[in-house]
Amino acid sequence: MSAGKSFYVTTPIFYVNDVPHIGHAYTEVAADVLARWHRQAGDRTWMLTGTDEHGEKILRTATANGATPQEWVDRLVESAWKPLLDTIDISNNDFIRTTDARHEDNVKKFLQHLYDAGFIYTGEYEGSYCVGCEEYKQDSDLVEGTGEFAGEKVCAIHSKPVENLHEKNYFFRMSDFTQPLLDMYEANPNFVQPESARNEVIQFVKQGLNDLSISRSSFDWGIKLPWDDSHVVYVWFDALLNYITAAGYGYDEEKLASLWPATHIVGKDILRFHAVIWPAMLMAAGVEVPHQVYGHGWLLVGGEKMSKSKLTGIAPNDITDTFGSDAFRYYFMSAISFGQDGSFSWEDLSARYQAELANGFGNLASRTLAMVTRYFDGVVPAAGELTPSDKAIADVVAAAAVEADAAIERLAIHDAVTSIWTIVDALNGYITEQEPWALAKDPANAGRLATVLNTATEGLRALAVLLSPFMPQATQKLWSALNVEPSLGALTAQPIREAGKWNQVPIGTTVGALEALFPRIESSAE
Ligand code: MSP
Repeated sequence: MSAGKSFYVTTPIFYVNDVPHIGHAYTEVAADVLARWHRQAGDRTWMLTGTDEHGEKILRTATANGATPQEWVDRLVESAWKPLLDTIDISNNDFIRTTDARHEDNVKKFLQHLYDAGFIYTGEYEGSYCVGCEEYKQDSDLVEGTGEFAGEKVCAIHSKPVENLHEKNYFFRMSDFTQPLLDMYEANPNFVQPESARNEVIQFVKQGLNDLSISRSSFDWGIKLPWDDSHVVYVWFDALLNYITAAGYGYDEEKLASLWPATHIVGKDILRFHAVIWPAMLMAAGVEVPHQVYGHGWLLVGGEKMSKSKLTGIAPNDITDTFGSDAFRYYFMSAISFGQDGSFSWEDLSARYQAELANGFGNLASRTLAMVTRYFDGVVPAAGELTPSDKAIADVVAAAAVEADAAIERLAIHDAVTSIWTIVDALNGYITEQEPWALAKDPANAGRLATVLNTATEGLRALAVLLSPFMPQATQKLWSALNVEPSLGALTAQPIREAGKWNQVPIGTTVGALEALFPRIESSAE
């Protein structure tokens, strides 16, 4: 993507029946890294996140807790979901709640439009429904229950029995869109990614789509249909629309035109909603389909999707309280291939924190700045004639910057980290090999020492810029210690696609002290 383009990235909106766990935080961090990268590249960037507040699941939870649904969602949003964004340093531009008036009013407009255009009709729904998934289920979606549910058919995701619904509902003519969707996937191979997700979606749609029940009449916690207030909108039909109601649909067409279409980052559990139902809804309404739907993998515990309902959820601040938000962000973005499942373990997190962050990046930064301070009174020296080893560092940095940007473009976030980490490894190897502490012993080597420390400092500058979307706090500390803000400007304003250009740190800059970027963790905390 060339600078100045629009990049509108979204997370799913989260159910507020419970508090967040690290699976939710994982999606947030991935979308945030992409948003920060594009912002720093100069693209017009907008990141949306928010909460999904209607439906039976939330109504039941509220009732079980002796609260009205409105009281419950207000409490959870303020006490748990908005604070999550600070815990993991999310730089969202907007936060939408499906109980916002801007959402409810414009969902009604969208529905009325589909109704007037003949895409909605009345019918009878008879079949299974999983309240945990808020999804109508086919028999093929169910599995044999175990334990207390032995002998019953249960939802494969929640391992709990489904409910049998028999309701008069309104239906959306989704079957009309089987062929248009297949044509769209064919014409736009990047619409659903990664490839495994794309194949799954195409296989599913090829079987032919059924019409979709889009209203419920047995409870009232939702948005009322504009033409029949005895029904509320099916919670997924309501929720998916957040991506355009937040962007101005129905009330600010200019804003919508400047933001839409979006890149949707979602867990693979909700891929079909986003890659099938959602584009069909938009096609019916004559709105452009999303730019891309990317289905990432799950965080697993004991081989299964981490979830609160299975009591395997880990709270994000259980990790950040000990390791900090930067380590949280770095760990999940580097240890798991984006698009694949990954298992979380405290041992792996601790080991990577120590090896990659404390000993790898943190130590590189502290020893380089300490040597500039010790041997040159903190003043960044000019480089002399460059040897092949010095040039090799400049080449590694230039290549890493290009490769990382290309990786972000294809949403291979882990590959971007791997590319950037070639700089950390190359610089650590360079310092070990050049032995600046040995050069410093003989004044005759002063020129060579200057070249080595100039090279290492320039490398740190590139690392701060390229790692800033991943670790905004540590890189800001490094940027402050490098003291380049007066000459180069704020870290977040550094054009990331130019991070590989050499000789950006002005000669004569006086570096400051660097506080430990990744302090030692006491083992009792693990
Ligand atoms: N409310 C719907 C989404 C509506 S979007 C229009 C929903 N909410 S959710 O809170 O149940 O989950 C949202 C997302 O959280 C998942 O799609 C996924 O991105 C993330 N995750 C929840 N558990 C997860 C893991 N164990 N691992 C990785 N991501 C997980 O579905």
